[in-house]
Amino acid sequence: MAGKLIDGKEISSQIKAELAQEVGRLQKENNITPGLAVVLVGENPASKVYVGQKEKACAELGIFSQKHTLSAETSEAELLDLVRSLNEDPDIDGILVQLPLSGHIDENKVIETIVPEKDVDGFHPVSVGKMVIGLPGFRPCTPSGIMELLKRTGVDLVGKEAVVVGRSNIVGKPISLMLLAESATVTVAHSKTRDLGEVTRRADVLVVATGRPNMITADMVKEGVVVIDVGVNRLDGGKLVGDVDFDGVREKASAITPVPGGVGPMTIAMLMYNTVQSAKRRAGAPVSV
Ligand code: GUN
Repeated sequence: MAGKLIDGKEISSQIKAELAQEVGRLQKENNITPGLAVVLVGENPASKVYVGQKEKACAELGIFSQKHTLSAETSEAELLDLVRSLNEDPDIDGILVQLPLSGHIDENKVIETIVPEKDVDGFHPVSVGKMVIGLPGFRPCTPSGIMELLKRTGVDLVGKEAVVVGRSNIVGKPISLMLLAESATVTVAHSKTRDLGEVTRRADVLVVATGRPNMITADMVKEGVVVIDVGVNRLDGGKLVGDVDFDGVREKASAITPVPGGVGPMTIAMLMYNTVQSAKRRAGAPVSV
């Protein structure tokens, strides 16, 4: 029987509705409007789409968004100056510099210039370090969106075999740590893994973030697996697909995320979550980050 769909659109809408209430309370009780600065450098079409989605989500929730669009020729020094001024801006609770940046700008330097208190992407080494040792701090949005999907779908992770395919700083590494923090037995596979199918067939929960369309096929999963597909690949004909052969794998899975409409909308919801948490801290309220 085909596995149940994990509806990221629906779950992200619930989260955004909860956040909109919190934004209303912050406004009413503390006279504080959460503020997010989004910085876009250059003309990357996918980045433009993502930035537009982030602005739209802010508007829906009553979060103040401030967009900075810089030309592709912007120097690293100019970008760092902008980040420093946003660090000091009392109306800004979160700073997001859309990645990737063009080659003449050192991404790590930009990320390290954002103060950790406004690092709503969770990419600063301080945030990453806190995640590693289990301290509160901003968690990166895509993996925390995956954890929220699993939680709200009622997937119990304790003692389960979780397999992550991919080892990027944005998804593979952080989701591995988050699954471990929930007491799963975690295996990280990647492009050099010798027998990928042998590893993925162990999974009770399989998270795939490789950027290769249809890489995981039905013969590579066991019956009843929960599958989270982080891939977003546009095929030559224009169709958007994940890293998992959805139709084949769904037949064996107990639950699976679609692409689009799975992980994607969750990333933005969790960015909104981090921004609201940061604003709550400004208001002196207890926060979970
Ligand atoms: N590019 C792709 N994903 C992300 C993300 O989560 N944050 C930022 N800043 N850039 C990205």
